[in-house]
Amino acid sequence: MGTADTVASLAIDGHVAVLMLDSPPVNALSQAVREGILNGVNEAIARPEVEAVVLICDGRTFIAGADITEFGKPPRAPGLREVQDAIENAPKPVIAAIHGTALGGGLEVALCCHYRVAVPSARCGLPEVNLGLLPGAGGTQRLPRIVGAPKALEMVTSGQHVGARECLAMGLVDEIVPEGELRAGAVALARRIVAERRPLKKVRESDDKVAAARGHPEIFADFRKANARKFRGFLAPEYNIRCIEAAVNLPFDEGLKVERQLFTELMQGTQSAAQRYVFFAERQAWKIPDVPDDTPLVPVKKVGIIGAGTMGGGIAMNFAGVGLPVTLVETRQDALDRGLAVIRRNYENSARRGRMTMVDVDRRMALLSGSLDLRSLADCDLVIEAVFENMAIKKEVFARLDAIVKPGAILATNTSALDIDEIATAVKRPEAVIGMHFFSPANVMRLLEVVRAKQTSRPVIATAMQTARKIGKVAALSGVCPGFIGNRILAARTQQAQAMLMEGAMPWDIDRALYDFGLPMGPFAMSDLAGLDIGWSKEASRSSTIREVLCEMGRRGQKTGAGYYDYDEQRNAKPSPVTEQVIRDFMAKAGGTPREISTEEILERCLYPMINEGAKILEEGIAIRASDIDIVWINGYGWPVYRGGPMFYGDTVGLATIVARLRAFGPKLGRQFTISPLLEKLAAEGRRFQDLR
Ligand SMILES: NC(=O)c1ccc[n+]([C@@H]2O[C@H](COP(=O)([O-])OP(=O)(O)OC[C@H]3O[C@@H](n4cnc5c(N)ncnc54)[C@H](O)[C@@H]3O)[C@@H](O)[C@H]2O)c1
Repeated sequence: MGTADTVASLAIDGHVAVLMLDSPPVNALSQAVREGILNGVNEAIARPEVEAVVLICDGRTFIAGADITEFGKPPRAPGLREVQDAIENAPKPVIAAIHGTALGGGLEVALCCHYRVAVPSARCGLPEVNLGLLPGAGGTQRLPRIVGAPKALEMVTSGQHVGARECLAMGLVDEIVPEGELRAGAVALARRIVAERRPLKKVRESDDKVAAARGHPEIFADFRKANARKFRGFLAPEYNIRCIEAAVNLPFDEGLKVERQLFTELMQGTQSAAQRYVFFAERQAWKIPDVPDDTPLVPVKKVGIIGAGTMGGGIAMNFAGVGLPVTLVETRQDALDRGLAVIRRNYENSARRGRMTMVDVDRRMALLSGSLDLRSLADCDLVIEAVFENMAIKKEVFARLDAIVKPGAILATNTSALDIDEIATAVKRPEAVIGMHFFSPANVMRLLEVVRAKQTSRPVIATAMQTARKIGKVAALSGVCPGFIGNRILAARTQQAQAMLMEGAMPWDIDRALYDFGLPMGPFAMSDLAGLDIGWSKEASRSSTIREVLCEMGRRGQKTGAGYYDYDEQRNAKPSPVTEQVIRDFMAKAGGTPREISTEEILERCLYPMINEGAKILEEGIAIRASDIDIVWINGYGWPVYRGGPMFYGDTVGLATIVARLRAFGPKLGRQFTISPLLEKLAAEGRRFQDLR
């Protein structure tokens, strides 16, 4: 952290003052940077020989945003507003010279300058929405005054960065100068502005772009409708939209007030707190206390995958996507052909949607080779096994691999639930064995659970994490236990959901409650999607559970047109009277009478046992930290990010409340259910999961 004097310097170039910021890594708007800009601008104004000011940054980027470490702390002068006013009201033209990224507060500063110039590789954006916020320093009021309401709506609600050429086209920058010539280009522009006596353009005073949207409320209504699914449950996109509406309909200063008020509301609310927590949690998850950063890595240049089924194929796509050659091994030619064909079809679909070119498709396919012989994996650095979920088969595969694959290679399994310590007994190098648990579809889902077995070596763990990062996943480290972190918590929920069926709740009641809570779907819709017959067989079926009976009736989920729900041709789900009767019959047989179960109770019954299971996972040392559990559930199961993950949510509810409710449910939770001692302890001490460090 520098001081104002060390992070900002003023140089006079002819009659142009060049105010250079240098606050690595990203010139964030810390107190020192704010003060540095303010002093520099004031000095430039005071010096009579100066006719114009260029605001430019050293290092890899223009101001890339607020200093997020200052969030939640008492404000320190000068505030950003004061800095912006000094720039905007300067009696001499101020030109922002942009390279790298001008993001958030950085772009809001640039928007107060009278002109903006950028290099072609520069990008601008207002990403606040991703932290559950809105640009609170005039961004929502100035941006639409330059680019118009429709483009501003896109930018503030998506948070996406816009490239310099597009910025030029929409008026956000005035000029593009060649790469590497930003300073000279900006100074030259400054001289021209002075020579041509161009006006001091204040964005706040321009009205024509917002006037175009005035009297057209349908612009906003349509935008809300088109994005309803994407914005579901989130407050920040809606608040951003309201700010753009204010920019269109109110005078600038009134609009600023709306922006300020909505910003404060978001900043003080739980959604943004959750989203900021998740931002840090994702970065934290990479850090493993006993695997230091300097742990040697196994160089991964060639990958082998065993099994070209649902998972193997998706996993292979991840590696081809980053240019790594992959060998897929199957037992039969037809299975191999099918696996490769599915991959090709996936790529071609992406190409059709414009996400890649056909050249990309061919390039990726060229990285994939198939084989029916495990010996083709001999020189792989990383082998991932994705064969049937069967211990005997997996052990056999690992024993054979052990004899084939070169020393030092990593032997990973994608098992969902099998004991990896037991799999490791099949090889003479258990230190090389690790779980790399991908989620389906493996080429899409962001989560990778890296599962450390008892003897897994540190370099193997470090390399698995590094590999996850390389293929663009979010990784969380788990220890070995049934279901690891994610599925173990899922099982706790499934058990309660099933139990509630026997008390009077219908599958759609439970699914609806969880959907409205923000999850993509509830347990029964999920089961219908995956197939009710996973792990079920006709021979072993005893009509002993609701699921068994539905399977016996041929109701095996979406693929059979019926499961817990009935489905029409378009796979729209409808509550099923047949399922309802099956449930009622079960209940009658057990001598139960249905009762009304409120949405609130459904949520508590489903969610609190998940949090309790998370606490057990923590106390057993399966997860390193509560936030890792949250990362797993957000990225692997679609837990709404604005609720921060199950453990963060537990903290917001209050752990004492959760313990009290679990106690009140008592025997309803099942004979096996016990409250986690860690959860009880934290509750008694009035502490949160976040306080565990
Ligand atoms: N499907 C999921 O949602 C999911 C998610 C995470 C993990 N997993 C795990 O991934 C693994 C694979 O699951 P899947 O859904 O891809 O199954 P799948 O049935 O689609 O694919 C398994 C493939 O392995 C092949 N195979 C079987 N034995 C083999 C052997 N000895 N050598 C080479 N190939 C062999 C089969 O021919 C088949 O193509 C399982 O351990 C499963 O638990 C599945």
